Amino acid sequence: MVETVRTIQELRAVLKRWRQKGETVGLVPTMGGLHAGHLSLVRLSRAKTMRTCVTLFVNPKQFAPTEDLDTYPRDEDGDLAKLEAEGVDLVFQPGADEVYPAGYATSVHVGGLGDILEGEHRPGFFTGVATVVTKLLVQALPDIAVFGEKDYQQLLVIRRLTRDLDIPVRIESVPIVRDDDGLALSSRNAYLSDAERKTAPVLFGTLSQVAENVGRGANVAEQAEWGVDQLLHAGFAGVDYLCVRDADSLDEVSGASRPARVLAAATLGSTRLIDNVAV
Ligand code: PAF
Repeated sequence: MVETVRTIQELRAVLKRWRQKGETVGLVPTMGGLHAGHLSLVRLSRAKTMRTCVTLFVNPKQFAPTEDLDTYPRDEDGDLAKLEAEGVDLVFQPGADEVYPAGYATSVHVGGLGDILEGEHRPGFFTGVATVVTKLLVQALPDIAVFGEKDYQQLLVIRRLTRDLDIPVRIESVPIVRDDDGLALSSRNAYLSDAERKTAPVLFGTLSQVAENVGRGANVAEQAEWGVDQLLHAGFAGVDYLCVRDADSLDEVSGASRPARVLAAATLGSTRLIDNVAV
């Protein structure tokens, strides 16, 4: 079975062995519940570095009290088997006490970028993500760390914090992996009923259409409004946001003169889905 460590001390001991042999290291932080999207991150790391360490940690700090921390999909044995099959060198699977021991008091807040869109609708979410990712990067000090474009805003928040805090790591990203009908893979898709699962691809279809229209010069505000209508018509219960933003800063844009991204969060039944498409 793939080597698994649970303490920061053991993690550092293994990485020190690799470093002494001159081996490069890739880190792939995950919360488990692994699917093909996660495995694409692992593959990029394995292609770019000599050693790959995957972290499995359901980070309590990025869940609001009303969110799904207790029911978040967990499958430790399945995850370890998948990582073994991918040829991962090490799994870091710390307990909550190892990451946040008694008296833990520090958090990392990425201002601006972390306060809008997902940050606005899930207060505390990005501070939880930024805090745990900062800790994992400092614990492992990898050459690269790999994140998915599925969580596009999260990727930008992580790039920002590594620059701002001078963490010597290169952040690599991997395009979204989708099911055949277009639905972006996500651990939370497991919550969808059969009927909801049939409706879910409308999210990707709508964002793709908005991206295409805006790329052809259509009015951004009108397209966003059209997109929300499409989702509500299809049976989504609510749309937190559907917008076209600058691909690097997430600032508002009035057209597609610079690289832009269409991003949305919408609720289907009681499941909140996010997705994004490049213009
Ligand atoms: O994207 C995720 O799975 C999590 O937000 C991350 C980056 C592993 C931090 O807990």
